[in-house]
Parts: sequence; structure tokens; C-alpha cells
Amino acid sequence: MVNLIRGLYSAVREGLYQDIALAIPAVLKEGRVLDIGAGKGRLPIRIAQENPNLDVYGVDISSKSIEEAEISSRQARFPGKRPRFSVGDVSSLAFEDGYFDLVVSTYSLHHWPDGVTGLNEVYRVLKPGGEAWIYDHWADPTPKAVSGIRRRYGNLNYIFARLHMHFIRHGITSKQASDILNDPALLFKGGTAKENGLALLLRLKKGSLNRR
Ligand SMILES: C[S@@+](CC[C@H](N)C(=O)[O-])C[C@H]1O[C@@H](n2cnc3c(N)ncnc32)[C@H](O)[C@@H]1O
Repeated sequence: MVNLIRGLYSAVREGLYQDIALAIPAVLKEGRVLDIGAGKGRLPIRIAQENPNLDVYGVDISSKSIEEAEISSRQARFPGKRPRFSVGDVSSLAFEDGYFDLVVSTYSLHHWPDGVTGLNEVYRVLKPGGEAWIYDHWADPTPKAVSGIRRRYGNLNYIFARLHMHFIRHGITSKQASDILNDPALLFKGGTAKENGLALLLRLKKGSLNRR
């Protein structure tokens, strides 16, 4: 049942992946992008298809998901390089400090054992000046966000998106996002939480002074 709803909800998810892939050139033309909690690799594949000058990486804690991502990547066509996938935990990423220009993540934050610890590891692997775009299911979307999603995708897709949220019963509330952003232990300073359809986007930037 959950898989059926997830399938029907895919228009909203794919719309988000496309939006992210198309938003990247405004901040990054060349360099390395990491997707954390990449699942079956749909977002890294889309980013690599839309941005041939980027080196795209995807990590996920699940080896089964990474196997599926690699299969999907082999079946896809790319104008530039293929994305690279590896098993990895956001709490301890196997990349050197300052390796990435941009880190993205969709619907994974609420799985992390500790959001601040995970984001501090994101901070470590980002170059100074690099950004992190962390999207998650938004548990308490505003009426404005709801009507925006209805307008863009139609009532049916909206209903499936909300049903999906109901069944998975996970996501992040606006208060949880604010608590993470204001946690004194968070190395990112001045981050924002913005509505993005039915997702909440934590947008973070590593200051040009490297704190580590
Ligand atoms: C709901 S899925 C989202 C997958 C994909 N980002 C998408 O948009 O379809 C959440 C993913 O986060 C991964 N995950 C959970 N905890 C993680 C961790 N500590 N480090 C890295 N990935 C993790 C899960 O294995 C899962 O693939």
C-alpha cells in the first residue's frame, strides 16, 4: 500500500529533483556535489544529466539502495560524467575536509540519528563558501504551501503526497527545523528554513573562515 502511494506521489518528488538540478547552475558551474541519503540515486542521476560539468556523488547508509542506484545509473544516459555511488553514513563521511562545493539531501534528515551531528559532518566536507541544501518532508506545511502544490501538480497528486506523509508519519516540523538551526552546537551559522512545496528546505552556507 505504502509503495503504491509512493509511486503515485512520484510526480511531486520528481518535480523537486528537477527543481534542484535546475537551481544548481546559479550557484555552481563546475565542481563536486554530494547527495546524502541518495536512496536509489534519482536525484544524483538528475543532477548529472542536467549539469555535465559537475562531478556528482551519492552516498547512502543502505548497501541495497546503493546497488539499485548503480543499476539505475548504468541504465541512464549522461551528457558528462556518471554519478559515483558509495555506502556511507552522514555521521562519518569517507571524504576529506572541504571536498565538496555543494551538498544536497532529500527526505533523509529525519532518519539521521542526530540532525546537528549529521549537519556538522556536512559542514566538514564542504569547502569554505560551499552550501548545503537539506530538504525533508514538511510535517506542518502552511496553507500557502499546500495551495501552491495543488496549483502546480493538481489535487490528485496533492492527495497522494499527503497520504504518503500520513503513512510514513515522519518528517520535520517548522519548530524542529528552527531548533536545529539555532542549536549552539551547529557549526553552520545563519542558515534558513524555507518552504519548498511540501518539503522544508534547510539552506546552509559554510562561512569563508573554516572553523575546523
Ligand atoms: C526516504 S529515503 C530518501 C531517499 C532519496 N533521497 C529520495 O529522495 O528518494 C531516506 C534515505 O536516507 C538513508 N539514510 C538513513 N540514514 C542515513 C545515514 N545515517 N546516512 C546516510 N544515509 C542515510 C536511507 O537509507 C534512505 O535511503
